Amino acid sequence: MELQTSVAGILLEHPLMNGAGTCKLLDGPEGVKELARSNTAAVMVGTITLEQREGNSGEVYWANEMFSLNSLGWPNPGRTYYQKYLPTMVALSRDAGKPLFVNVGGFSPDEYAVLAELVFERGADLVELDLSCASIWEKGQQRRIPCFDPQLVKEILRCVEEKVGSDAKVAIKLSPFSDPFALSEVAKAIGEWKVVKAVTSTNTFPNAFSYDEKGKPRLTPGGGFVALGGPAIKPIGLGQVKQLRNLLPSCIDIIGVGGITTGLDILDYQRAGAVAVQIATALLGRRLKVFDQLLSELID
Ligand SMILES: Cc1cc2nc3c(=O)[nH]c(=O)nc-3n(C[C@H](O)[C@H](O)[C@H](O)COP(=O)(O)O)c2cc1C
Repeated sequence: MELQTSVAGILLEHPLMNGAGTCKLLDGPEGVKELARSNTAAVMVGTITLEQREGNSGEVYWANEMFSLNSLGWPNPGRTYYQKYLPTMVALSRDAGKPLFVNVGGFSPDEYAVLAELVFERGADLVELDLSCASIWEKGQQRRIPCFDPQLVKEILRCVEEKVGSDAKVAIKLSPFSDPFALSEVAKAIGEWKVVKAVTSTNTFPNAFSYDEKGKPRLTPGGGFVALGGPAIKPIGLGQVKQLRNLLPSCIDIIGVGGITTGLDILDYQRAGAVAVQIATALLGRRLKVFDQLLSELID
């Protein structure tokens, strides 16, 4: 079976890679090395931010067979660390025949642009802009999720395109949109910028809530309002990908993500219009062997 595919003109051995947020959780600083040795088609690092971030405190991850909840809040060592270590990460990944992608998160349009430039200068193959993190709380207030503000999306893309040029390989990661009109509005805003070569859909569903056995919020940050992933969001992810395929220009590739746990799930995302897919919850639960398992199921 022909598994080869390409995203943003970058050739991939097969369509399956890790989703952002999983690399450092898997094996700490050794995450890239371990992923490069696994059967992922590309290594996705990040989310990285300009300043070092501790991330949210308390209980920040929980999963069962139906869904995952997380509120990590972009923990990462910040710009200085990645300036130093990204070239090594790129080399490790390339030695294993895999491109290295980096997901970046900014607190202003300019921060997205500065991070994108840094990441490309250090040799990464693609930058994914996280416009969809639901887990950033500052002084008790939740930060606006950028992708829900089309003007902000345009401003971020304007700054990024100005900084890295329209030929750069940039992907945009979106939240799930429950309003089809709002989705078409953001798709229109994205389609105006040549720098966007791919859209990743979908990130987690924001502000889900779950009680533990004692009736307390399952996770600590944000009073228990946290991000939902895993099998429960697969139909939502498929719906987003199918709508986006109709809304976006055909030159923009779609990376499908959300609830993938089997080879059939990959096929479903391909049918809906995705050229590649990512996994997060299943990877954290089943570890690196999940790539081999899902690929052999896909071939079957
Ligand atoms: C523990 C955890 C951490 C995550 N961290 C990030 C992140 O830092 N940046 C990001 O863009 N997405 C992040 N995500 C979202 C995933 O990459 C993915 O889009 C989402 O979980 C849906 O995929 P899944 O159903 O396979 O988990 C995270 C997800 C999980 C479960």
